[in-house]
Amino acid sequence: MIILNAADAAALAEVHASSMQSPWSAEEFARLLASPGCVALGKLVGEALGGFVLLRAAADEAEILTLAVIPACRSEGVGMALVEAAIGEAGRRGAATMFLEVAENNAPALALYARAGFAAVSRRARYYGGKTDAMVLRRAVDGRCVAV
Ligand SMILES: CC(C)(COP(=O)(O)OP(=O)(O)OC[C@H]1O[C@@H](n2cnc3c(N)ncnc32)[C@H](O)[C@@H]1OP(=O)(O)O)[C@@H](O)C(=O)NCCC(=O)NCCS
Repeated sequence: MIILNAADAAALAEVHASSMQSPWSAEEFARLLASPGCVALGKLVGEALGGFVLLRAAADEAEILTLAVIPACRSEGVGMALVEAAIGEAGRRGAATMFLEVAENNAPALALYARAGFAAVSRRARYYGGKTDAMVLRRAVDGRCVAV
């Protein structure tokens, strides 16, 4: 796992575009990486970026802002490794709780997050494109407590 910085913004945008219906631009990634508490962790496949997770930690809370694995590298454990790395990084930054939002119809991501110990705490109606609800998920960063 590597820590990515603003120089990697184009690679982040490329992986994001391979995985998301509404991809973020390289400029957006550069801006996010420059904002307080944000960090991106990536997994290299050969010399290319195979996947990444972007998180933000502030005070005792952290949030996964986005997570993506390129289609060619899916179902090989990369997504889970990224989520576990994000939880570890959040803990090192002092977070006690981690949150994220995921579309209610994103079965692969919901399954991954459930396996990683996240539990639903609320729902945001028509959060994505004015149509699809978002599930807000949460877990304790402290590994001794899987669900909060
Ligand atoms: C969601 C995503 C990151 C998963 O990455 P991945 O590297 O394929 O995931 P892993 O191989 O680590 O899988 C871990 C677990 O997630 C679940 N999972 C992953 N892909 C799945 C699928 N297609 N269907 C059902 N469950 C799936 C499984 O529980 C899996 O554990 P298992 O293999 O032991 O059954 C990837 O599919 C992706 O980039 N999707 C598009 C972007 C996205 O939806 N991001 C999340 C937005 S919040």
